[in-house]
Amino acid sequence: MYKILMTYDSMEGLDTLVANKEFKIEVHAKPSAEDFKKLIKDYDGLLIRSEVKVTAEIIEAAEKLKFIGRAGTGVDNVDKAAATQKGIVVANVPGGNTISVAEHTIGLILSMARSLPDAVASMKNKKWEKKKFMGNELFGKTLGLIGLGRIGTEVAKRLISFGMKVVAYDPFANADLAKSNGIELTSLDDVFAKADYLSIHSPLTDDTRGMINNANIAKMKDGVRIVNCARGAIINDKDLSEALKSGKVANAALDVFVKEPPEDWSLIETQNLLATPHLAASTEEAQVKIAQEMSEVIVDFFTKGLIRNA
Ligand code: MLT
Repeated sequence: MYKILMTYDSMEGLDTLVANKEFKIEVHAKPSAEDFKKLIKDYDGLLIRSEVKVTAEIIEAAEKLKFIGRAGTGVDNVDKAAATQKGIVVANVPGGNTISVAEHTIGLILSMARSLPDAVASMKNKKWEKKKFMGNELFGKTLGLIGLGRIGTEVAKRLISFGMKVVAYDPFANADLAKSNGIELTSLDDVFAKADYLSIHSPLTDDTRGMINNANIAKMKDGVRIVNCARGAIINDKDLSEALKSGKVANAALDVFVKEPPEDWSLIETQNLLATPHLAASTEEAQVKIAQEMSEVIVDFFTKGLIRNA
């Protein structure tokens, strides 16, 4: 029997795995680093979302671990190099939350364009501030994308139907595919220069960490609006905060943060900043899709030796 440690407590969508007699699933939701280190010794597989950090120390403590499954897209909470060195497979489910994240991104863009959260809050306070909330159409504006993978592409397709022009930077994207979707692939600086709305959809890597900083914000249009549903550390919080205060960046909408939940809330308190608590992938549909695919990936790995999504 294969013992699987789960560090979050939703079994929804994991039916194939739960029903399989060859597996024993045990839930220890959000263990502390100390507990995690002790627990991990006992398990063949580990199933996580974003609630834990699988550090080199945790991996070092594992005695039988063969497989780490990330029920989601980003594997930046796993020390992949340490896992690989120990022969542990790290797999994710990259496509399961694409639509949900794309839709959340668009929700945030519309919220910025039409001041929806402020207008709702104002009505709740029994105010009728029609003039104050004059908005802007998305039609005719330029969307700049950093990252043209699955999510970036779905955001682009939807916003092209709103009449937006889309320019994108992605060193790994296929130019012909981008063109066939009506997207212009271009340089990073060109995206910064042209975007009315800048949306980030790249993973957190050494190249993207801190990419939205003073030097790059200076290359953007005055009054640019920025949305980040990718990873918090792609933005330098201090630099964004200054740009929001000066008005260089008119608005920003963040779903992701360097520390989650944040320890320093000062950026979130900034008036022209919208924030949601890493909600983009939190839809019933996405979580079920991810869990179903992850169940198959785990079963295939342990029972057939098949490595998928690694
Ligand atoms: C992901 O990487 O799958 C998303 O950011 C959602 C999450 O981490 O919970």
